[in-house]
Amino acid sequence: MKLLPILAAVGLATAQTAAPYTDAKSGITFSAYVDATSGYFFGISTPANSTGGTDFIATIGGKGTGYSGASLGGGMLNKLLILAWPNGQNIVSSFRKAAQYGSPAVATGTFTQTPIANGTYVNSTHWTYTFLCGKCIQTDGTTFKATDAQPAIGFALNANAPAQKASASASVSKHTAQGQVKLSLKAAQHKDFEVWRTWAKREETFIA
Ligand code: HEM
Ligand SMILES: *[C@@H]1O[C@H](CO)[C@@H](O)[C@H](O)[C@H]1NC(C)=O
Ligand SMILES: *[C@@H]1O[C@H](CO)[C@@H](O)[C@H](O)[C@H]1NC(C)=O
Ligand SMILES: *[C@@H]1O[C@H](CO)[C@@H](O)[C@H](O)[C@H]1NC(C)=O
Repeated sequence: MKLLPILAAVGLATAQTAAPYTDAKSGITFSAYVDATSGYFFGISTPANSTGGTDFIATIGGKGTGYSGASLGGGMLNKLLILAWPNGQNIVSSFRKAAQYGSPAVATGTFTQTPIANGTYVNSTHWTYTFLCGKCIQTDGTTFKATDAQPAIGFALNANAPAQKASASASVSKHTAQGQVKLSLKAAQHKDFEVWRTWAKREETFIA
């Protein structure tokens, strides 16, 4: 009987909300989930008419030197995951997928990440990785759909960096916090998206 209030509190803790977010250096705006306590953030920016689109700009980051992850399908299993962490002044990032709980393997497919240079940096408190996520909206159930109004996006973080942090395929320890948050795709729309997407350039140092 005494467990009920605790369960209710856990439910409340996962009822996270999204808000507008502007990256300080690139000026790109996002619909984002920002957790002030951990420093975790993940946001997306989409074209003014995103119906039927496959691409968006994403920003992911955190405080310190640990990893931040996002699930484009909400849950962890059989969804397209984005996983990133800082390595010195560089960012290491990859797509991942897992059929069962454990360090997710690198995922390959038609999806791509192309960094936006001035939205990708490490400063004295945080790291930030901003990139064009190409063909990141898939139709196989591994991601949200372009027609979703408020898709659930998963988040996962660990304040500790993976042991092999120079390698994009490094295995990671389990997250110390995770959950799902609804991001409004309408709030993610911006008329300048087509300009911002031209800022994305292949720079190999960002992705090992
Ligand atoms: C060794 C590595 C990992 C293990 C063992 C693991 C294990 C788990 C487990 C057991 C859960 C269910 C919730 C819980 O019992 O805590 C979960 C949820 C989740 N994990 Fe992982 N995970 C790992 C890595 C990752 C990574 C790298 C990502 C993202 C890139 C990720 C994203 C998520 C998400 C989004 C959820 C769902 C949260 C929710 O539905 O509320 N996980 N994970
Ligand atoms: C970010 O870089 C792009 C070109 O890559 C530039 O046009 C834009 O003005 C920069 N943003 C800021 C806020 O300086
Ligand atoms: C948005 O794009 C979709 C599909 O490309 C199209 O059917 C629709 O008419 C467009 N809406 C507007 C307001 O332009
Ligand atoms: C570092 O970057 C983050 C993300 O843009 C920003 O919130 C933070 O204020 C910056 N810290 C400093 C010391 O400039």
